[in-house]
Amino acid sequence: MRFGHFSDAAREYVITTPRTPYPWINYLGTEEYFGLISHTGGGYSFYRDARMRRLTRYRYNNVPTDVGGRYFYVNDDGDVWTPSWAPVQAELDHFEARHGLSYTVITGERNGLRIETLYLVPLGATAEIHRVRLTNTGATAKGVKLFSILEFNLWNALDDQTNYQRNLSLAEVEVDGSTIYHKTEYRERRNHYAVHAVNAPISGYDTDRETFFGLYGGWNAPDAVVAGHCHNSIASGWSPIGAHQIDVALAPGEVRDLVFVLGYVENEPGAKWESPGVVNKAPARALLQRFSTSEQVDAAMVELRSYWDDLLSTFTVDSGDPRVDRMVNVWNPYQCMVTFNMSRSASYFETGIGRGMGFRDSNQDLLGFVHLVPDRARERILDIAATQLPDGSAYHQYQLLTKRGNHDIGSGFNDDPLWLIEGVAAYVSETGDLAILDEDVPFDNDPEDTGTLFEHLRRSFHHVLHNRGPHGLPLIGRADWNDCLNLNCFSETPGESFQTTENLAGGSAESVFIAGLFVHCAPDYATLAEAVRAPEEADRARRAAAAMSAVVLDHGWDGDWFVRAYDYFGNKIGSSECDEGRIYIEPQGFCVMAGIGVESGEAVRALDSVGKILDTDHGIMLLQPPYTSYHLELGEISTYPPGYKENGSIFCHSNPWVMIAETMVGRGDRAFAYWKKIAPTFREEISEVHRLEPYVYAQMIAGKDAPRHGEAKNSWLTGTAAWNFVAITQHILGVKPEMEGLRVQPCLPAEMTKVEVTRRCRGAQYRITVANRGESGSPRLAVDGQPINGTVVPYGPAGSIVEITVDC
Ligand code: BGC
Ligand code: NOJ
Repeated sequence: MRFGHFSDAAREYVITTPRTPYPWINYLGTEEYFGLISHTGGGYSFYRDARMRRLTRYRYNNVPTDVGGRYFYVNDDGDVWTPSWAPVQAELDHFEARHGLSYTVITGERNGLRIETLYLVPLGATAEIHRVRLTNTGATAKGVKLFSILEFNLWNALDDQTNYQRNLSLAEVEVDGSTIYHKTEYRERRNHYAVHAVNAPISGYDTDRETFFGLYGGWNAPDAVVAGHCHNSIASGWSPIGAHQIDVALAPGEVRDLVFVLGYVENEPGAKWESPGVVNKAPARALLQRFSTSEQVDAAMVELRSYWDDLLSTFTVDSGDPRVDRMVNVWNPYQCMVTFNMSRSASYFETGIGRGMGFRDSNQDLLGFVHLVPDRARERILDIAATQLPDGSAYHQYQLLTKRGNHDIGSGFNDDPLWLIEGVAAYVSETGDLAILDEDVPFDNDPEDTGTLFEHLRRSFHHVLHNRGPHGLPLIGRADWNDCLNLNCFSETPGESFQTTENLAGGSAESVFIAGLFVHCAPDYATLAEAVRAPEEADRARRAAAAMSAVVLDHGWDGDWFVRAYDYFGNKIGSSECDEGRIYIEPQGFCVMAGIGVESGEAVRALDSVGKILDTDHGIMLLQPPYTSYHLELGEISTYPPGYKENGSIFCHSNPWVMIAETMVGRGDRAFAYWKKIAPTFREEISEVHRLEPYVYAQMIAGKDAPRHGEAKNSWLTGTAAWNFVAITQHILGVKPEMEGLRVQPCLPAEMTKVEVTRRCRGAQYRITVANRGESGSPRLAVDGQPINGTVVPYGPAGSIVEITVDC
């Protein structure tokens, strides 16, 4: 069952009922100022860091689940309703929410009044616009009262939800005409405030929450809205809000636009005040000037659309199947931009107060983002590398505002350093910018202790070699990619964090997954070593990878699949010797991607085992059979009921590894079949089962052992976005920037007979036409009409157009 449809021409998902199976959200903002917005107007806003600079308040896990946002209420002669349906939930004659690229439009109509609200963050602005368009669709004149309302957050979102003895005495505001200034803590160390304004005279306002809602009133019927007027309250402590009242008269057919702005404003420390106690409003006024008319908002929309037109023109496909094209051309890159910006901080499953930027997560996010804005990828790489520790290990997370490693979590996740190699290799392949390797970058942000970026990669690579266990496999440390495989941890204390608990001394648990990742990184690392004129290091890396492959085949091969790990006691995990957790997805994907066992047959066998044991109608499960009880020696993985999260769900992040692996052995049909099972555009038709947004990937879909098999959770912020983009574009469609040229090596399913791809890379434009005759494995290429050997097309000069035809 569907709850809306794609509008491909507009690049929107159009939701046609407010009663979707879960709030379906979107993101506003592309660079510094961000907002989350659900299809019924729920959500919140922040400047750069969802924890430290939260502008508006949102209560997670609420009843109903999604209440709190930037809302507009109507009092139409006593009839109170909200055009976003929530929070009043009065029935609408018409409802539509359109989620587009960095904007959302929500329309509600009732009793002859249509209200369409456009929400967007203009490029280059630290503000969001809510343009409210009222249309009298009836035959009689209307006089209604319109109210805006949002709740201000006292900046630090964690403190805001926990420290009431202080917070309830802090709030301060100013009101100047139609502009409300939220200035809590501005009197002390902050030099920023928020504004909430409208480009029209108002007939009232409220800034004190209790006055607007009533102490016992709620979002469904605020006292002021029901009474039909605000009270011009000035918040003093308690909870500050920004509410405007505007009386609107509309003749039949008349349309009126109101432009509301919610903005973040900073002053220089020396220029904070206009007069004692009165904030310097000059930058706020300048901001409001930029968006004081509806035409200015139209212009901002045009700019935003052309920004996305340009970004998305980097890679386009025409495959003949709209479900493929809309995923690859629009929604997947869009999600990659969001994961790049947010890491794992703020979604409807991440509260924005929990995690900073993940070292491994951010590096993986780059894989799907680097082609969109390479310069921002470059900056991110240097930020991440600057948090690396001198011994090559890495803080697991860092804070975006301070760019410092997070001491609470610390380091010890032994896969982390290798993801830096993956990220840098993707960036250099995309751009050819070898100069980045020579950039001088600190270790642990210490300006006294620096090295070139290549030196950082070298320490990453050697960190693995220096930390090997009894079988010669990499030590897992705290955990590897699977954060929940805590093999050295042995936690018996309820509620203790598996991420931070002290590990047992002498932990010698080993990870076959890290071995696969190591072998996978090695060729790229060696090529980068050659680029910095370190050929011996390149040789060393290649030899180390060959040796590690051999170790994997000796100690990491179980007979029908790759073993997952060795535990603290040296027992196998993910082996036919185990009762539960006999086979895991990660080493099957990564070892085959690394090429281990491809020549000697283990790869195909492992992939066949995946197909037999882990595959379901909804995607590939992480492991089988799931753990049915808590295992002290395994940690968090066994805390989840069977079929959820790492304990046997369909963990969408690792599914594309198997897709890529299938293309490594030339099985395009299987790769594509796996992709279709988890790709949201293909799951749209079972939205009542999947429940989350049909336009973005979710981290997990419940596995077959869970009662709710097929139900997704944790949409948006997941490495699933980047890896699926890599799988479908670089391996199935097969267009992959490499150091020495653009590799064009499609591995297509039989059902895709003709495919056209355009790819912009290093300033040249590649137009690729693929005729699929079902002989995947041996594509024949012609470049500008001339047949070439192999599948790597040398990069054309900037500005050139290169025509490539492929027969496969
Ligand atoms: C989740 C993992 C996640 C980890 C991060 C765990 O509870 O199951 O998916 O990586 O938390 O802290
Ligand atoms: C989500 C985390 O963000 C990611 O870093 C981890 O690899 C996966 N969960 C698997 O545990």
